[in-house]
Amino acid sequence: MDNKLLSLLVYFRLKNKERWMLIGLTLVLSVIVVAFLAANFGQKGRLPVSTELQSQQHVDRAEQLYGSGGRCRERTNFVFVKVHKCGSHTTTCILQRFGYERGLTFMLPAQDGPNIGYPRFPKTGDYLPSSNGVFNVIADHIRYKKDIVTSLMPHDTAYFAILRHPLSHLKSVFNWKHLDKILRIKAENPVGRFLDTPWYYRASIQGMVRYTANLMAYDMGLNIAYFKQNRPLPSKLNFPGQHYGKSPRISHIQNGTKAEKYLYLHPKTADILHQYITSIDQDFILVMILEYYDESLVMLKRLMCWGIRDILYDLDVRNNEPYRYKHKDFTEVQKDNHRLWSLADYAFYEHFNSTLWEKISSQGPDFFEELSYFKFINKDVNWYCSMKLEITWTIPSSNWNEAFVLNRTFCEWLALKRWHWDDILKEEHIKKWHRKSFFS
Ligand SMILES: *[C@@H]1O[C@H](CO)[C@@H](O)[C@H](O)[C@H]1NC(C)=O
Ligand SMILES: *[C@@H]1O[C@H](CO)[C@@H](O)[C@H](O)[C@H]1NC(C)=O
Ligand SMILES: *[C@@H]1O[C@H](CO)[C@@H](O)[C@H](O)[C@H]1NC(C)=O
Repeated sequence: MDNKLLSLLVYFRLKNKERWMLIGLTLVLSVIVVAFLAANFGQKGRLPVSTELQSQQHVDRAEQLYGSGGRCRERTNFVFVKVHKCGSHTTTCILQRFGYERGLTFMLPAQDGPNIGYPRFPKTGDYLPSSNGVFNVIADHIRYKKDIVTSLMPHDTAYFAILRHPLSHLKSVFNWKHLDKILRIKAENPVGRFLDTPWYYRASIQGMVRYTANLMAYDMGLNIAYFKQNRPLPSKLNFPGQHYGKSPRISHIQNGTKAEKYLYLHPKTADILHQYITSIDQDFILVMILEYYDESLVMLKRLMCWGIRDILYDLDVRNNEPYRYKHKDFTEVQKDNHRLWSLADYAFYEHFNSTLWEKISSQGPDFFEELSYFKFINKDVNWYCSMKLEITWTIPSSNWNEAFVLNRTFCEWLALKRWHWDDILKEEHIKKWHRKSFFS
């Protein structure tokens, strides 16, 4: 009976608002009755699953759950390099919930805020010490450096990160750091104007230049000294902006000039970049790509041997600000300039976008079945959570998951932000220390 009701709710959700509200009210009342009945007779809500998905059930469960055919063990030691402005907040929240449920020990920032030593590499004092000397998880901002991070983490730690297309990344960085105001760019598309002549702004933004060029590669630990925008400017340009905040006079630089004239690249740049990317490729199990977020999450779930429930997330995306130049396009010259200006980021992005798709294609076609199943479940869980119902919701087993039960507590967890989790996890961390001093 409650089954039918929930199907009805799913159906009516798709109809127009007024009707939905009227019927919704009636249904919510009925749901309360159902909740009462369910609580009393031990019935559980079941999510309707399409017959197409159900027909897959004959496939060997272990095969599906563990991908390669063998059993795999859930991995609980991991480092997520939370690259700035890549939708990494949402991922961190997923990881925080996962770790919290399992009582894992996080490396947490000693200071308020999300940084463990960032923009420097992490060192003692940047994080709260672990009560047993071992950390399971890093999910706050670090600048990755292999020898430092591996010395802090167990040997079986899984490393992963996230990247985003460099152009939409730059827009997001501009909005984040208010670079249009700082650089005094008055234009419909300040990012485009910046990319007309990016080298022109560098002296006026010594501290800021790192936000516009190769920031993702920087977070990933690349030594960007080889990619500095530091070629001396031709003197005839009479470069004015030597001081921070001084308005650059951009009039005497020709429009449509390619950035390569103004960039200094070390002759070894290509080798260094190639070697570094290769080493990340070897050391990381996955580099997620924001443009293919659900694909990346399902891939992560498979590699980590996690469940569908573990990667559910709040579709109300974090930091999704509607700034005015968000959807502006760029000229070919602007795009070319950006490729040169942020050369390492493009190399990273293109390499790891293609390795993501290589990994996906090596999974076989059922990857996409799991992907659509996950999208479907995630949407419905978000909807269930938005209703703030008191009844639990049982997601039935499928080829990719055992059945699991959701309730309002889970929904509250889903909505938490990174800083909420940091507070909760710090409290847990302190409890562990108390327990330790009590027993020792
Ligand atoms: C480049 O051209 C655009 C449009 O023609 C103009 O608005 C802008 O001021 C020019 N930029 C520079 C740096 O001269
Ligand atoms: C990522 O790689 C895939 C597969 O090679 C390609 O089809 C897609 O266009 C790439 N995406 C971006 C945003 O570059
Ligand atoms: C609700 O779900 C959470 C997370 O799965 C679980 O820890 C908790 O015990 C559940 N609460 C009730 C009342 O069932």
